[in-house]
Amino acid sequence: MFPRHFLFGTATSATQVEGGCTNTDWYDFARRPGRIKGGDTPEIACDQWSRWPEDVALQQRLGMTTHRLSIEWARVEPRPGEIDAAALDHYRAVLGALRDAGIEPMVTLHHFSLPRWVRDAGGLLADALPERLARYALRVVSALGDLCSLWVTINEPSVLVAQGYMLGAWPPGVQSPVTAIRAHHRLLEAHVAMYRAAHAADAQGRARVGVAHHVRVVQPERPRRPGDLAATALMRRTFNEAFGRALTEGKLYGPLDVLSRSKRGFRVADARGTQDFLGINYYSRDVVRFSAARAAEMFVARGIPEGAEVSDLGWEIYPEGLGEVLRAWYARAKIPVYVTENGVADAADTRRGRFLVDHLAQVEAAIADGVDVRGYYHWSLLDNFEWAEGYAARFGLVEVDYATQERRVRPSGELYARIARERALPGPMRR
Ligand code: BGC
Repeated sequence: MFPRHFLFGTATSATQVEGGCTNTDWYDFARRPGRIKGGDTPEIACDQWSRWPEDVALQQRLGMTTHRLSIEWARVEPRPGEIDAAALDHYRAVLGALRDAGIEPMVTLHHFSLPRWVRDAGGLLADALPERLARYALRVVSALGDLCSLWVTINEPSVLVAQGYMLGAWPPGVQSPVTAIRAHHRLLEAHVAMYRAAHAADAQGRARVGVAHHVRVVQPERPRRPGDLAATALMRRTFNEAFGRALTEGKLYGPLDVLSRSKRGFRVADARGTQDFLGINYYSRDVVRFSAARAAEMFVARGIPEGAEVSDLGWEIYPEGLGEVLRAWYARAKIPVYVTENGVADAADTRRGRFLVDHLAQVEAAIADGVDVRGYYHWSLLDNFEWAEGYAARFGLVEVDYATQERRVRPSGELYARIARERALPGPMRR
């Protein structure tokens, strides 16, 4: 049984579902040949910009009590300093409709995409990024703070930095670990500025502000090999923990600290305590080994255990990891936790039901052990634009027919609705 006030919901992001915004770095990036599988672009996506009332009604019918969505910065501030009142009105309408449907919103201010002008002015590396994001956060929270109290400043800083600046698979397509470390530092500074701005803008003192951290389980492939142990430690300390621990401890992992010192006067110590809740996005486990051939990836080669069950994207399905991650991070932060994302690419919907039950069982057990988990957001409500993977990867509880934009609830969606309604997992499906 889940606690009375536990929230059940789904998560989405603007670029992945809205369609119709041509003013972002992702829009341009997707038009470059060979960047996105199948040549897909976010141009239409799920057309949620116009179909949102249907999607709110769908969530209501599924008995959802919360929803995590993001605001497209490029819509709200299409040119530097110019706020589009109509875009803010649109989001006001969406948030109002969610509230009327009994669905508590959680809003992400920055979910991967940048306005084109921000990209052109240096993107994540610009000295002015923290001021730019803070100013935007201030405007949005001032305009919408009466309708929303749960705010995420930045979605998955470590994923954004790794994909965009180390692996080069996402915009801006850079492959440089040192540049990635600088981008990471700038995002940390930006988060602190956004956290303060969101609180300053929140007239009623109701805002709860956090980060959605992407956390993986990382284990050595050969536990006796010093190289594999070193690769494991490096991936844990950088990708997995650096950002989160800067917020809990006010310190950065030593090598990152040395490489990212700046003259700007931002002190990592100021990051301590700048989250009111802990957002955890959990998907999978990596088994890693040292690889001399992977200098560009800090000598870390990632794999999965032999024979493991995987998603359509080849990611291992490892529910125990969610329990592990929740306990470890709660012990560190001791603040309320939300599972801000968890889901699986499964077009046939043959694994998603089992996935849901097994992961929610981990959440339930963590709560029984005293971890203060307040809600769970399944990724995702709908199939959507899965970044460089395009539309082929299907994460939705609801299937989208992209030719007609018809939505069809998958069996796993009905199962989730039942779990949310009963606040309990179906007995026969428990392991
Ligand atoms: C991101 C989502 C993404 C999902 C599945 C997370 O890394 O926040 O935008 O679609 O994982 O890959």
